[in-house]
Amino acid sequence: MTVLDHLNMAVTTAFEALGYPQGFANVVVSARPDLAPFQCNAAMPVAGYFKKQGETKSPRDIAAAITGQLEGHADIAQLEIAGPGFINIHPSDGLITRAAIALVGDETTGIVKAEKPLTVMVDYGGANVAKPMHVGHLRSAVLGEAIKRLFRVQGHQVIGDVHMGDWGLQMGHLVSELEDEQPELPYFDPEFSGDYPAQSPVTMDDLARLYPLASNKAKSDPDRLERSRRATAELQAGRRGYRALLDHFIAVSVEALKIGYGSLNVEFDLWKGEAAVDPLIPSMIDGLVKAGIAEDSDGALIINVAQDDDKKDMPPVILRASSGAVLYHTTDLATLVDRKAEYNPDLILYVVDQRQALHFQQVFRAAVKAGWFRAEAMEHIGFGTMNGTDGKPFKTREGGVLRLDDLIAMAKDAALQRLKDVGIGDDFDANEMADIAHKIAVAALKFADLQNQPLTNYVFDLDRFTSFEGKTGPYLLYAAVRIKSILRKAEAAGLESGAIRPEHSTEKALVLALDSFGRAVDGAAQKRSPHILCEHIFSLAQSFSRFYTECPILQDGIEADVKASRLSLAQTTLRQIEMGLDILAIEIPDRM
Ligand code: ARG
Repeated sequence: MTVLDHLNMAVTTAFEALGYPQGFANVVVSARPDLAPFQCNAAMPVAGYFKKQGETKSPRDIAAAITGQLEGHADIAQLEIAGPGFINIHPSDGLITRAAIALVGDETTGIVKAEKPLTVMVDYGGANVAKPMHVGHLRSAVLGEAIKRLFRVQGHQVIGDVHMGDWGLQMGHLVSELEDEQPELPYFDPEFSGDYPAQSPVTMDDLARLYPLASNKAKSDPDRLERSRRATAELQAGRRGYRALLDHFIAVSVEALKIGYGSLNVEFDLWKGEAAVDPLIPSMIDGLVKAGIAEDSDGALIINVAQDDDKKDMPPVILRASSGAVLYHTTDLATLVDRKAEYNPDLILYVVDQRQALHFQQVFRAAVKAGWFRAEAMEHIGFGTMNGTDGKPFKTREGGVLRLDDLIAMAKDAALQRLKDVGIGDDFDANEMADIAHKIAVAALKFADLQNQPLTNYVFDLDRFTSFEGKTGPYLLYAAVRIKSILRKAEAAGLESGAIRPEHSTEKALVLALDSFGRAVDGAAQKRSPHILCEHIFSLAQSFSRFYTECPILQDGIEADVKASRLSLAQTTLRQIEMGLDILAIEIPDRM
């Protein structure tokens, strides 16, 4: 139980004794931490409650009754009534010490495990095979990974799926462009009945070259576009050589994506994509037709998902276009069929650009209509864009679409420059320097993204992201590394941590900061917004810094048991920062 939990218990008991409705008994973290760490604002609603019963009681009198009741409580050091009836609450030293001991002894420093672990699938990343990644894919990867880990640390069974886009027109572009370049390959010979080569005929560089070639030609040449369309349709209809090529394209892309995502500490459990569920489509469509859910509309097969209370136009789901092609709706529905059969998840979170909100609304409604999932089981976590200074989605300096490795390289250069500016690492070797710069770069990019509410757009500003001051990833890495160095020095001096006994006000404040970790993790998971956790880690780092200024550990002339207590606190703080940053998938260097 946290300090807040204990205070809530005390106030609830007081309400019980006073005959106040217990539903109003509620202690919160203070909005004015300069006055007190906690407050109870229940006097006003309680007064309202009595008024409804025909009894007039002033909120201030009610507040006085509550504080009177709480007077002398072992968990409370001091109470003040402010304004119309706000109650400021200062926890007792005893309570703070108990909380500190519990935190030190708890491996997760306060993360609360879910009572009922759920099976949760997180659909994120979503890069398209051969098509370059854009900032939306970057944001999805960064945000999705954090959300996946948030649920995982709470004890849920979480499965992350990259859900690659590997079934659209881009595949037809690649097939037909490759045919133009190397028509002699067996994949294009309809008569060929032997085994296709195990070795891919293309590399990732080839794919990155072929796709824009074809897509640019198709833009100005309708015939070229038609050839790509036809190749896509033949591929989807199962043409053997094309399917074999698709498998090569996917394998080559997955290998490259694993490296790209890996450099951001993004790891998927499943590398499935749209193509993987294609075999499920015919029987799915059959079932939906038989159940009377899918209907014909001008030769297309659709599912009507509009509802009477819709305020906006709600177009139908298109299962099959009149051309016979299956589209994005269809693959997402087939993916739901697949997920239900394979994992029967309680919750599926789609971490995808907010511009796809309508798409998901349509898909979810269709899945509910089909009886596969309850509406609550599917959620779209939309996010805004990372913009350039021009207010448009960020592009690289050359104006091209974003490439993940370019972005990381840019951030790494900026990080190296920063390190040089502050004189860190002059004595480190080049390898370690590169590793540190990479970690700083990733922390800078990710924290700049995650500290916002997902729906907010933000501006790409490497200078700000990589600063060691302010609410940035590098600041947090620096804070963690500093504690690591303190702990190393303490160890070298033969100091040992020991029983915790918070005395100084900054020390108590640090314990209270640590004490709110479980709430931050839970809040971030509940709200699907890692920025709540970012906020926590940042304020924890600040609390530590205030603590360490006032409560040194390594200085001479401090009693051994005081040092031991402070050391315990420093260790626990580091553990919590590490755990918090790990949830955000941000790695900390050993030194910098
Ligand atoms: N590949 C898609 C895109 O680039 C994103 C996939 C998102 N996930 C999904 N289940 N539709 O826009």
